[in-house]
Parts: sequence; structure tokens; C-alpha cells
Amino acid sequence: MSQRSMESHPVEEATDPAQLEKFNPLSPAVQANPYPFYHRYRSNAPIHWGAPVFSNQPGSWYFFRYMDIAQILRDNKHFGSDAKRSQIAAPTSEPVKAVTSGAALAFRDEPDHKRLRSLMSKAFTPQVVTALIPHIQEISEGLIDQIQAKGSKRFDLIQDFAFPLPITVITELLGIPTQDREEFRAWSHTIMAGIERSPSSEEGLQAKETIQSLHQYLRAIFNEKRQHPGSDLVSKLVAIEEQGSKLTEEELLTNCTFLLIAGHETTVHLISSGMLALLNHPDQFQKLREDPTLSENALEEMLRYYSPVQSISRWVLKDVKIEGKTLRKGQHVSLMLGAGNRDPEFFEEPDRFDILRQEAPNIAFSIGIHFCMGSPLARTEGDIAIRTLLRRFPNLQLEPEAVLEWQDSQTVRGLKDLPVTY
Ligand code: HEM
Repeated sequence: MSQRSMESHPVEEATDPAQLEKFNPLSPAVQANPYPFYHRYRSNAPIHWGAPVFSNQPGSWYFFRYMDIAQILRDNKHFGSDAKRSQIAAPTSEPVKAVTSGAALAFRDEPDHKRLRSLMSKAFTPQVVTALIPHIQEISEGLIDQIQAKGSKRFDLIQDFAFPLPITVITELLGIPTQDREEFRAWSHTIMAGIERSPSSEEGLQAKETIQSLHQYLRAIFNEKRQHPGSDLVSKLVAIEEQGSKLTEEELLTNCTFLLIAGHETTVHLISSGMLALLNHPDQFQKLREDPTLSENALEEMLRYYSPVQSISRWVLKDVKIEGKTLRKGQHVSLMLGAGNRDPEFFEEPDRFDILRQEAPNIAFSIGIHFCMGSPLARTEGDIAIRTLLRRFPNLQLEPEAVLEWQDSQTVRGLKDLPVTY
């Protein structure tokens, strides 16, 4: 089915919640277009016990309303990110354990989380992002020069632009040699496949081995930076470790692994899905091209409309009753950011893409203590990428016969490729 025909969402008839099937974020229909499903469940069963996200769980609580999601994200007493604290539950797959049982700040609760976040913030400052602006611009122009040098009027916006830009930025930021970039792409994909859904045993094993290879590689980089520190993030993080022996080797490893994954795949999807929205709405494309000062607002609308992270996880730490439903300690909770960002209570005609929209802030970067630490970098990269693409390709269009496919995933949402002409 073509992308354009998938975009219309008829208004849902009221449905008896008992008649609704268990929501399953991995069903092919939801993967192809989750938004009609979000509307149906938000209207009829906004707090819903649906299919499990992890195979060792009996199910998961799904939340679809903006307000519920915001409240849960601010309630650190009943909900946490650390699976181990919920006692009953712990993801069983090996790669999930390898990433989440380590010390990555996204999977820690207070007080550990606060300590890790404040240490990492010392190295990952707003000044670091500001200093990167000319370089991000230079990389963007360079990638477009390469596309134009090919002499064809067609290219894949993901393979040729949206992927190489963030991976170059994040590997350079961390101080990882550029020649290892392609290897990082493969590693990142394998790890993502192993952590975000119930992987097959082969995928699980592959992801586990990949994490081990990545850790081995990173350990060598840490040693190198200890001997020859640079101005990169890893050198700064290593220095923080040595000054107060506060950031342990394990914390360094899991947090750098997390930064690589979090800082790359999501930004690829922001740029590519954001461009898809513009290409599907030529009037908006034109408006932004004529007035590039709208780009900041346009980027927020892209984050809202096609949220790169569709859902995030929490664990129930303490029994809690919400609107008559009892959530039990140890149960898994899926907060559907993509659904909250299309909640008609907060966004008028939420399925309309409008770069001038000025309503509630979107929740694409989450809310509360785990609010995305890389959001200034992601916004900067997204802004430069979109403005540069529009300036250099004023006649950009989707390839007429393009059949667009979304990657299989229940956490992040993005296209496999995006063929365009100029
Ligand atoms: C469009 C791009 C991005 C999106 C949509 C995004 C989204 C998110 C979301 C939703 C969370 C919160 C998870 C939760 O509450 O459980 C998060 C956390 C985080 N993100 Fe991002 N992210 C993006 C880019 C980046 C980049 C570029 C980096 C770093 C280079 C980054 C680093 C982090 C870190 C370290 C956390 C954990 C923060 C904490 O737990 O305190 N992200 N991100």
C-alpha cells in the first residue's frame, strides 16, 4: 500500500472495550500505520492490558493519552525504569540484560540515575553541541555534494544522507575513528534488533556477541584516550572517571554504548520521517522553503507527527490504581509517546501536519527525569539537515512509484528507505 493512501484515518466508531483485541505493537497492521489503532484505543480503552512486549511477561499496560503518559513519567514512586527494582519482572533476553542490567542511565532510577546524569552532563554540555554546528553544516553540505556528483537525479534520502549524518556526528563526538563508521552501523542494527522486542534465539545470540565486540572495541578506545586525551566526549568521560573514580569502567561502557545507539537510529528517523511529512505536504514544503526561519517550529511538528520513539517502558514498583484498573508491582508499562503526540485533547486535528502549529509541547523526547539528554544535539542536527536539504534541493519529490516500508520495531519507528528525485 502506498504511503499516501495509508495516511487517512477515518474517525473511529465507539467500540465496546471488551470487543477490542489485545493491542499488539508488533502486529503487521500496527507496524504499517499505528495511528488509527492509537485513536481507537485512546477513545475506547485508554488504559489497556495488551500483548506483552517481552516474551517472559504475561502482558503490558498500554497508555495512549497524553495526560496519562505525562503523569506516569512524573510519578517516580510507582513507576521506574530499572526492571530489577520491580522484583517480579526482568527481561530475559540476553541482549536486553546486557544493555539494561548495566549502568546505562536510561535504565536506572534515583539516586543512581541522578549521579550518572550529572556526571555525564559535565562532558555533554550545551557548549559541546554549539561547537559542533559548523561541522554538522559541513558534513551535510559534503553529503549533498556527493549525491550531486553521482549525476543521477535520484537518490535514497536515508542511505545517502539521513543515516551518514548522525553516525558521523555521534562517532566524531565520541572520538571514534571515521573508518569504523560502517561497522558501527551494523553493530547498532544488530543490538537494536536484540533489545527492543522479543528476539529469536539466533538474533539474541548475535546481539549479545555484538555487544561484547562493541565493548571490547570501546575498551581499546578508552585506553587510547587515557594515554592521548582529545577534546572528544570519551576523553572527557574518561577524565571524569579518573578524577573522582566516580564513573566506573562498566558505567563508561554501558553509557557510551547507549549514546551510540540512542544518538544515531533516532536521529536518522527524525530527518527521514520529517522529510517524508514535508514531501507528502507540498504546501508545507513550499512554506518552509520560502521562510527557513520556520524550521525550529517545523522540526517540533515533525517530532510530534512522526515521533521517532513511539513507545517507552516503565515497570510498576508499587501497586497503584488508575481509573479503576489495578497495576500490580512488577508489571510492564508501555507509554505510547506516538499516541500522546496525536491526542486530540492537546492537538487540534492531530493527524494534520502543520509546521505553524503552536499548541502543547510534544512529548517525543519524553518528560521528567529521563528527558532525552541528547535533545539539543538531535534538534540541531535535524534543523541543519532539513534546512540544507530544502535549500540544495528546492524541487525534491518522492519518487513517483515509491513503495515505502517501515522498519519492524515496537520502540523506534522509521522507514527502510526513502527514494526521492530532484
Ligand atoms: C530525534 C532524536 C531522538 C529522540 C526522539 C530521542 C528520544 C528519547 C526519549 C524518548 C528518551 C527518554 C526515555 C525514557 O524516558 O525512558 C531519551 C533518553 C535519552 N536520550 Fe534521546 N532521543 C534522540 C536523540 C538522542 C541523541 C542524539 C542522544 C545523544 C547523543 C540521546 C541520548 C539520550 C540519553 C543519554 C537518554 C537517557 C536520559 C536519561 O535517562 O536521563 N538521544 N531519548
